[in-house]
Amino acid sequence: MKRFVYTLSEDKLGELLAERPLPLEILERKDDSVVIGSYEPLEGIEPCRVEEVPEDWKSWRESFGPVDVEDFVIMPPWKVPVFINPGMAFGTGLHPTTRLCVKLIKEYLEEGDSVLDVGTGSGILSIVAKKLGASRVLGIDVSEDAVRSCKENAGLNEVQIECRLARPSEIKDRFDLLVANLELPIFKEELDNMRHIFRRCAIFSGIYRREELEEFLDMLGSRGLSPDRILEEDDWFAIGIRNERD
Ligand SMILES: C[S@@+](CC[C@H](N)C(=O)[O-])C[C@H]1O[C@@H](n2cnc3c(N)ncnc32)[C@H](O)[C@@H]1O
Repeated sequence: MKRFVYTLSEDKLGELLAERPLPLEILERKDDSVVIGSYEPLEGIEPCRVEEVPEDWKSWRESFGPVDVEDFVIMPPWKVPVFINPGMAFGTGLHPTTRLCVKLIKEYLEEGDSVLDVGTGSGILSIVAKKLGASRVLGIDVSEDAVRSCKENAGLNEVQIECRLARPSEIKDRFDLLVANLELPIFKEELDNMRHIFRRCAIFSGIYRREELEEFLDMLGSRGLSPDRILEEDDWFAIGIRNERD
């Protein structure tokens, strides 16, 4: 598959995108110019180079990141938008711990699952779960700002999520999937309270560096839990668990 590489000014790119959506990716941004790769030649513009790229559908789809132009975000129709109003609560999607959770939710969540999001923050993981087809989603947090933010963001995304000020020990229901992006000291307090809430899977994130990972795995092991998946990004770890005993 051919990729046509162009260097354009931001203004020119804006003009092109305003005319019609183009299958392109941003390769590099410089001061006032942008290097783009297009999968079709752009009429009337000479490419800096034409290169051969592997025709892999998945990576081809993934290569179309969102394009920011002025107040617009242009993205292909297979991307799922999540609106987060940046505020007091943690969870914009920039932090590795959140991103790892999103990956594992995508892997574990089954259509119609009930989900408990412990430490919901902005509500980002609850919204992702809901958009992936969860039925009931409950987001809990110990911060009033977080609960407010979670409710606001659920509204922005037009999804139904319960957001409540609570700790895991106060949750009496059981959920198919539990996701908790916390920190090791909080896991030390809360792991026993979370242990019996999830029926099928749990995702624990917020574990920093190998030393914490080893300590956390010991904590799991002493409770009869073993990791099914361990993901890492920038020294942060997320652990996925499948409950075999239910
Ligand atoms: C790292 S943020 C995660 C936010 C969001 N879920 C994400 O993945 O981006 C952790 C959140 O857990 C909350 N939290 C801390 N201790 C908690 C506890 N014992 N029970 C519930 N939430 C807690 C904090 O207030 C904070 O909003």
